[in-house]
Amino acid sequence: MAATDPSLAAILGGSAAVTADHAQANRWPILGDEDEQAVLRVLRDGNLSFHPEVQALEADYAGLTGRRHALAHNNGTAGLLAAFFALDLQPGDEVLVPSATWWASVLPMLWVGLVPVFCDSEEERLGIDPDDMARKLTERTRAVVVVHLWGMPSKMTGIMALAEQHDLKIIEDASHTHGATWRGRPCGALGDISVFSLQNDKLAPAGEGGILLTDNAEYYERAVCLGDIARIYELDSPNRRFAATSFGIKTRMAPLSAAVARVQFRHLAEHNRVRHDNLGYLSDGLESLGCFHTYREPAHIERTYFEFIIHYDAERGGLPIDTLVAALQAEGCEVTAPRYPLVHEQPFFSEGHWQRILRATTRQADLAYDPASLNRTRTYSHTLLRLPTFPGGGRDILDQYLAAFGKVLAQGDAILAGTSGSHA
Ligand SMILES: Cc1ncc(COP(=O)(O)O)c(C=O)c1O
Repeated sequence: MAATDPSLAAILGGSAAVTADHAQANRWPILGDEDEQAVLRVLRDGNLSFHPEVQALEADYAGLTGRRHALAHNNGTAGLLAAFFALDLQPGDEVLVPSATWWASVLPMLWVGLVPVFCDSEEERLGIDPDDMARKLTERTRAVVVVHLWGMPSKMTGIMALAEQHDLKIIEDASHTHGATWRGRPCGALGDISVFSLQNDKLAPAGEGGILLTDNAEYYERAVCLGDIARIYELDSPNRRFAATSFGIKTRMAPLSAAVARVQFRHLAEHNRVRHDNLGYLSDGLESLGCFHTYREPAHIERTYFEFIIHYDAERGGLPIDTLVAALQAEGCEVTAPRYPLVHEQPFFSEGHWQRILRATTRQADLAYDPASLNRTRTYSHTLLRLPTFPGGGRDILDQYLAAFGKVLAQGDAILAGTSGSHA
């Protein structure tokens, strides 16, 4: 068989540029002997429901963020539910949210009668757009959910100014930013209540887990009353009267998960640095191609890379985004659309399931909802690409990715001619 031409794009019959091992480069979480020993210690202690490992993890996160109170949860979604509950808002109160996020930033609020009002995201950092927030304010707006999407802190100056002006509470979903900072302040300390997810993909994974953080004692106690029945007994306040029942949900974290989370927490800075170095290198190379924007951090931010999302300018690149993706995949690149679909486009909203839950909790019958809204975010989201974060990768695979991108773009005309049938 004739050898394939390595300089020819693989989609045109050339050989693939990426031959390095993805499994090694993308291995996550990075677990080892330390994690095993930590789990064994808890296991051998024998108490799998109550163990000081959980409180020690809470202290780790209180230390990272400088916050007064930390409460571990069985996942981030439960932490967000507790955050919405803790604020003690009224049924029917409105909360500004981005649609470009994971559903858990939004949906738990429905169960405490809060009404999500979807906002556009801005294109510089992909967070909720303060200008659109201002447009969506009504006399019922009480809070905003800020999500530092993919690891990039949101535009907090504008968000905080608006929140201050209109007395809005900030719920900070910091699930992608363990270890990131904004103007020297840690993510996880930028909201009235903040939540980290410790799910398996996250930067400091526990398997499943979440941490709620706040400086407000009453918010903390309400979160305890919602989901941590055993700790209600420890409260030295009138909230202790709920110790016999809680508020009906159980969300405390399993100590075995906390054991893993603590080891991962100890390696957080080092793991973040590997991603940062690798993706900084890749970003430099991609930006030099002239048609990609890679969301490098501005001077006042230290970002993390939960996922590596880049923007593609098809006019400059010359190939439609679907053709580009197909050609890169043929080169062996793991390039796809971002994982999260826009929340406001989902059947849960468009089919009216959310109204049924809200009608039960708020008794309002006239909740407006427009699935065709947020045109700007909808259009922009189709320009985004997801690449691996290379948490274990060396430079070889990064160079191969850059070679693949360069090769595909350089042969754009030939690729368009050769693949036009499938994109007609
Ligand atoms: C932005 C965001 N918020 C919340 C969550 C929910 O966290 P969990 O999966 O731990 O429930 C996730 C991830 O899963 C997330 O990505």
